[in-house]
Amino acid sequence: MPDDVSIARALHVLGVVVWIGGVAFVTLVLLPAVKRMKSPEDRVAFFEDVEGRFASIARWATVLVGLSGLYMIYVWDMWFRFLVPSNFWMHLMVAVWAVFTVMLFIAEPLFLHRWFNECAKSKPEQTFRIIQRMHWVLLTISLITVVVATAGTHGGFSF
Ligand code: HEM
Repeated sequence: MPDDVSIARALHVLGVVVWIGGVAFVTLVLLPAVKRMKSPEDRVAFFEDVEGRFASIARWATVLVGLSGLYMIYVWDMWFRFLVPSNFWMHLMVAVWAVFTVMLFIAEPLFLHRWFNECAKSKPEQTFRIIQRMHWVLLTISLITVVVATAGTHGGFSF
């Protein structure tokens, strides 16, 4: 029978897979497809509509990742790790989580969604390029975090 921390770790990884996997799909598959198929004016509206559905899944996944991560830190009493330089990957995980949390829970519902739709009317090509660039940046830092956190968890950094 797995213990509670093993379950928390499994849920943590499950959340990361759903969330970052979704970001990878949007960046590598959906955005290039939308770019080819739709007229510049329709692209942003179509994309925002489809991504809006993923956003609610991503919100649940971020909550799961955050809670399971905090649970592991609390139960294993790992707070000291944030003071050890070789555990920089712990900061990286929290930083990536914080960026997405702000985007998904604050920026997107409050103004980002509306702002993209408004900009798309006057500058459709430019707005679509900004969306694409933002996704590439988010995907890149997320994938780096997955690699570095996995290596760090298994003793990959000891300086
Ligand atoms: C509030 C945010 C987060 C907290 C508190 C947190 C905390 C943790 C903790 C405590 C561990 C276990 C460390 C160990 O076993 O030594 C862990 C593992 C891991 N985390 Fe996070 N994490 C967070 C966000 C993230 C994010 C955003 C990602 C990915 C982008 C991520 C990816 C991973 C990975 C890949 C592992 C390694 C799993 C394994 O190989 O067993 N975490 N995290």
